[in-house]
Amino acid sequence: MSPSNRPSRPLIVTIDGPAGAGKTTVSKLLAKQLGYRYLDTGALYRGVAVAARQAGVSPEDDAGLEVLCRSIKLDLIPQEEGLRLLLNGDDITALIRTPQISMLASAVSARPVVRAFLMSTQRDLAARKGVVAEGRDMGTVVFPEAEAKFFLDADAQIRARRRYEELNGTAEAPSLASVEGQMRQRDRNDATRAVAPLQPAADAIRIDSTHLSLAQVVERMLLHIHRIA
Ligand code: DC
Repeated sequence: MSPSNRPSRPLIVTIDGPAGAGKTTVSKLLAKQLGYRYLDTGALYRGVAVAARQAGVSPEDDAGLEVLCRSIKLDLIPQEEGLRLLLNGDDITALIRTPQISMLASAVSARPVVRAFLMSTQRDLAARKGVVAEGRDMGTVVFPEAEAKFFLDADAQIRARRRYEELNGTAEAPSLASVEGQMRQRDRNDATRAVAPLQPAADAIRIDSTHLSLAQVVERMLLHIHRIA
């Protein structure tokens, strides 16, 4: 952390956008620069997806999802190498980034019962200000009062390539075409669902990272935050 980058008052900073836009890298870098905590809300939806799969609950089964949500506790624990996700005390970090869990997370995230459950989890995790929260509805629904809101986007082919490179080398490494197909499907699900769809908040600053390095994106965000803080 560079203390000179810490704003004079603690803020909530939100970063929304589609898959592969660079939100995670940017949010982590920005949180470090500001001396803030980092909140990865996608990881929480992924945690519900893992719990649903383990319990054999279908993403269409609202009653089953409601019972499931009442029985689970998700925690995000900051560690040197990143956030660890605990499901009822078990570390499930290694399970949540597979293409299957990505699609299942998108499916369960469309269900109001799951969103209501995670709303309070997210607000609890950001109860103390000084946080960078990343997701799809941070600036619109979960933290409408946030002082600094960003919407990060990039060309779909660039986003698919970035995601492909992240997954490459893992046991279930898929082809570029399949990564791009799944990403477009997930974006469609996330942007067209009835509750809290992916969309920029009216007061969000939009940044297109297609032709920017992620370090340049962070620089732009820092400039804006220091202008308002
Ligand atoms: O950011 P991610 O790819 O880890 O998110 C996984 C899924 O979770 C994403 O497809 C949609 C959902 N999600 C959401 O609906 N709202 C959020 N704030 C974060 C994620």
